[in-house]
Amino acid sequence: MNAATLLARPRPDGNTARILDWVEVDLHRIDHDTERIDLTELAIGGCTPCCACTDSAEAPGCVVADDAQAVFRKLIAADGIVHATPLYMWGVGAQLKALLDRSLCLVRDYGSPDHRSFVEGRRTALVLTSADPKRRTPRRSRRCSRGSPSS
Ligand SMILES: Cc1cc2nc3c(=O)[nH]c(=O)nc-3n(C[C@H](O)[C@H](O)[C@H](O)COP(=O)(O)O)c2cc1C
Repeated sequence: MNAATLLARPRPDGNTARILDWVEVDLHRIDHDTERIDLTELAIGGCTPCCACTDSAEAPGCVVADDAQAVFRKLIAADGIVHATPLYMWGVGAQLKALLDRSLCLVRDYGSPDHRSFVEGRRTALVLTSADPKRRTPRRSRRCSRGSPSS
């Protein structure tokens, strides 16, 4: 199996990146290949939402020209997809949220009996890290990143 691992990680050496490392090591151990897609390094804007994608029957057809197009191609080519994100304000990180919103273009005839998806049948997993403010955890987000996201 070939798994695309999507990492939304404002902190390059944070909990989420670290746990995704472990997941990838385990996948390699059972003979799966992985390709990590670091969403923080890509330019992915929100859905416009023009719905131009729904005009295309055979391909995602999103007309927003940014890095999401390449990510969609990789997701379609993968057998499995792992999403990894910190819990931010009880939701997923902004980098992943933008991609998930844009993923509307992977779906056709949503909510109808003809519903189909370009990633139908892919195995998916979610790695979600969070912090309990009442307990001390080894790498609390209080240790914030300084400067640019990549620093
Ligand atoms: C802006 C921000 C919002 C957060 N919101 C939540 C939250 O709603 N619930 C929670 O349990 N933890 C929350 N946390 C804690 C993070 O989810 C947790 O520390 C996570 O492991 C950080 O991942 P990272 O080390 O990969 O950045 C928040 C942290 C930050 C910086």
